[in-house]
Amino acid sequence: MSDEIANLRKTVVSCISCELSKSRTNAVPGSGSVKTGVVFIGEAPGRTEDIQGMPFVGTAGKILSEALLYAGFTREDVYITNIVKCRPPDNRRPNKQEMDSCNGYLQKEIEIIRPKIICVLGNTAFGSLLNGNEITKNRGKIIKRNNQLYFVTIHPAAIIYNQDLRQVLKDDLKTLFDILDKIKKGIPIDINE
Ligand code: URA
Repeated sequence: MSDEIANLRKTVVSCISCELSKSRTNAVPGSGSVKTGVVFIGEAPGRTEDIQGMPFVGTAGKILSEALLYAGFTREDVYITNIVKCRPPDNRRPNKQEMDSCNGYLQKEIEIIRPKIICVLGNTAFGSLLNGNEITKNRGKIIKRNNQLYFVTIHPAAIIYNQDLRQVLKDDLKTLFDILDKIKKGIPIDINE
């Protein structure tokens, strides 16, 4: 782990900047490789993540790991984080104030890792990072903003409610890693916006 990420983790785990710090068990900083070309960004920790202090280790995390394996990677090969680092009570969506309050930590993670592409998982991350909505209509797109590439896909938790999406996520992650490979090799890619 880089010193910078280690320092950031220390700040995140002791953060009391917003109301979510009062109800959490543990703050959940990002985890994984800092040398990766891709950072995955979800919404917020759930119950299991809150208990373990690790992102995507509950049911949605198992689905994400399975899709990563399908694409030929493990969660240790990539960096995984969330828009907010503390669990909202009852798993409600984080509100704007909470997302704004946590944004500095996310920006710092991105600044340290400098990913070639960011994988946006689901509507909350899509809305917060790219002002987007309707993930199902936009999934599979590559978007460029402020010189940063983003790849948009569904949130792994969506599969808990609709099993048909399991293969969609797997295929999207395969596409994402093909795109990453092309970027690394300097092969042109189609950017949607
Ligand atoms: N859902 C998320 O968005 N993030 C997690 O860490 C777990 C579930």
